[in-house]
Amino acid sequence: MIRSIDEEQIRILLSKKIKSDKVKKEDPNQYANAMAIKKVLVSGATGQTGSIVVHKLRDRTDEFDVISFVRSEAKAKEKLGSLAGMVVGDVTDRASIDRAIAGCDAVVILSSSAPVMKGPPQPGQRPEFEFPAGAYPEDIDYNGHKNLIDAAAAAGVKQIVHVGSMGGTNENHYLNTMGGGNILIWKRRAEQYLIDSGITYTIVRAGGLIDEPGGKREIIVGKDDSFFIPERKMPHKLPRADVAEVVIQALREPNAQNKAFDMVTREEGEAPPTSDFAALFAQTTPGL
Ligand SMILES: NC(=O)c1ccc[n+]([C@@H]2O[C@H](COP(=O)([O-])OP(=O)(O)OC[C@H]3O[C@@H](n4cnc5c(N)ncnc54)[C@H](OP(=O)(O)O)[C@@H]3O)[C@@H](O)[C@H]2O)c1
Repeated sequence: MIRSIDEEQIRILLSKKIKSDKVKKEDPNQYANAMAIKKVLVSGATGQTGSIVVHKLRDRTDEFDVISFVRSEAKAKEKLGSLAGMVVGDVTDRASIDRAIAGCDAVVILSSSAPVMKGPPQPGQRPEFEFPAGAYPEDIDYNGHKNLIDAAAAAGVKQIVHVGSMGGTNENHYLNTMGGGNILIWKRRAEQYLIDSGITYTIVRAGGLIDEPGGKREIIVGKDDSFFIPERKMPHKLPRADVAEVVIQALREPNAQNKAFDMVTREEGEAPPTSDFAALFAQTTPGL
């Protein structure tokens, strides 16, 4: 039988209502849980830390629905396996962000510019770096992430977790000299822009990232690059997997809201691994 479009639309709407009434009747919690699922956009989803975040979010389907914002479908296939929830775009292209962010409750920013070595270093000299044209820290870490924050505000996103780097209080930091990019300066400006946006934020400033298993070390939080004070003899490193877990926990824990902090880990075996993230976030403070 051929139905008119109006009849067909009414039929679909009625069947959806019957299904949703059925869920409410059979299990009221199931309906509440479905409503509570957080839809999270991950920018930098094919990155070394971003891909771990995507896998962790995918493992918690009862809590999260993940949209992976990627530059390359081929890399997404390689790093993420399934292309489910993938949107191809670029943080420098606002229209592509708008397409990806629609309907999201939260955004995780793990995208970043990356300096490229110019060539093999001369004997006894430090290697020289450059940034590709249009991919300087000002383009990606500041203007690109500003695009994400503006798009999030326009789309009614409630929460942003931003991962950056320790060292931003020192304008003369070595990383700022690489390729003339001032990477830490632009990352820190983006952090301030996020705070000023009024969106609930968590700003994680990581120490040196390493590819070791997560969940095996004590995580320590601080502020204002105090881990770099030589007399404190503090560690400066942490596994990407621990950063990824902190991102997931920041999406859930009220204590992480409107906080910014530096983060490192002790060596494995030196102290019990961190398991109480509410207590960890309780040690962190608001503001840059
Ligand atoms: N390396 C360290 O020791 C260290 C220390 C402290 C903090 N951090 C910071 O921690 C964060 C995560 O580090 P990581 O090593 O996991 O990063 P990573 O592997 O370099 O990943 C960066 C991601 O950003 C994406 N990206 C670059 N330009 C983009 C653009 N224009 N639009 C959209 N996406 C773009 C990349 O996409 P493609 O996959 O397509 O290239 C990649 O997925 C970064 O902010 C980094 O600066 C790093």
